Amino acid sequence: MENTLLDIKNLKVWYRTYKGYAKVVDGINLFVNKGEKVGLVGESGCGKTTTMKTVLRVLDSKVATVPEGEILFKNRDILKMKYNELQQVRKQSISMISQEPTAALNPVFTVGSQIMDIIRYSEQYKDYSKSEMLSLAVKTIKDVLIPDPERILNSYPHQLSGGMKQRICIAMALVTPRELLIADEPGTALDVTVQDQIHKLLKALVEEKKMSLIMITHSLGVARELSDRIYVMYAGNIVEVAQTKELFKNPLHPYTLGLMECVPRLYGGGISEGIYGYIPDYINPPAGCRFYPRCPSAMEICEKEKPPTVSVSEDHKVACFKYH
Ligand SMILES: Nc1ncnc2c1ncn2[C@@H]1O[C@H](COP(=O)(O)OP(=O)(O)OP(=O)(O)O)[C@@H](O)[C@H]1O
Ligand code: SF4
Ligand SMILES: [Mg+2]
Repeated sequence: MENTLLDIKNLKVWYRTYKGYAKVVDGINLFVNKGEKVGLVGESGCGKTTTMKTVLRVLDSKVATVPEGEILFKNRDILKMKYNELQQVRKQSISMISQEPTAALNPVFTVGSQIMDIIRYSEQYKDYSKSEMLSLAVKTIKDVLIPDPERILNSYPHQLSGGMKQRICIAMALVTPRELLIADEPGTALDVTVQDQIHKLLKALVEEKKMSLIMITHSLGVARELSDRIYVMYAGNIVEVAQTKELFKNPLHPYTLGLMECVPRLYGGGISEGIYGYIPDYINPPAGCRFYPRCPSAMEICEKEKPPTVSVSEDHKVACFKYH
């Protein structure tokens, strides 16, 4: 569609291991419209980071392989792009905030030199003088609510707190104009107050710049706050997708219902029992529905066949035999 910015179709990603292929991402479909904020929610190890690193083609090709699928960015398949075209997408169109800010920042260069490098090599600012570039770096640091930008620009990453490093990563992702921001659980290692500030800041900046956002998170609560539409992912499959309001009003997939149970309530309801069991082994995953070993509603067919994705209303889809 004309309004679609990113369209992932039937994407599969496997890792080579000494025991065989780990079939992590198992044919997912996901799209993001222009200016839309989308949440990608699922528990640890379900393949969120793997999917999004494949979008930017930053997985090690010696280890990871993509046996099937398309990643259309403005109708061009990222998986088929030549290096120069791919670099243009990385430099001008899509940026990603890493899950680990410490690993994302180079420890031997100051924050200032790392931000200046991004500005220097971007198309948009190629005619800027050095002082204009410096002013832009200072403004970018101020935008992420750090009050003393000059000191920060001259600091090395180890001289900053975790919250500051996360803000610097946001600043680096937004210093040049982009169409899509992929935020991989920013703030996950921080205390809840700082985490909340980071999420609010991110939302405000994305809305101000009219960008699209993919917000990766473990938490349905965070996704609810930041997204217009939510994809629920389990063991490399999208099991449910709906507009945020609709998903909370009418959750359908047994895994989504389990995640909802895990959201703490202020009043009543007691302590949630959570979801029993673990993500399956990706080398020998269950033959049918990957949620089968943990599903309280499992039926005979679920063990043998993979559930197809069905539409229950215009924007609400679910992959479960209960609704087939
Ligand atoms: N280089 C690799 N080689 C083999 N397996 C890998 C590799 N990288 C990731 N995996 C496996 O792929 C699966 C999905 O990992 P991924 O990091 O995509 O999950 P995630 O949903 O982002 O989890 P989290 O929420 O903890 O960040 C995990 O089982 C992980 O062990
Ligand atoms: S397809 Fe079957 S096992 Fe899978 S979630 Fe639905 S009911 Fe549970
Ligand atoms: Mg991850």
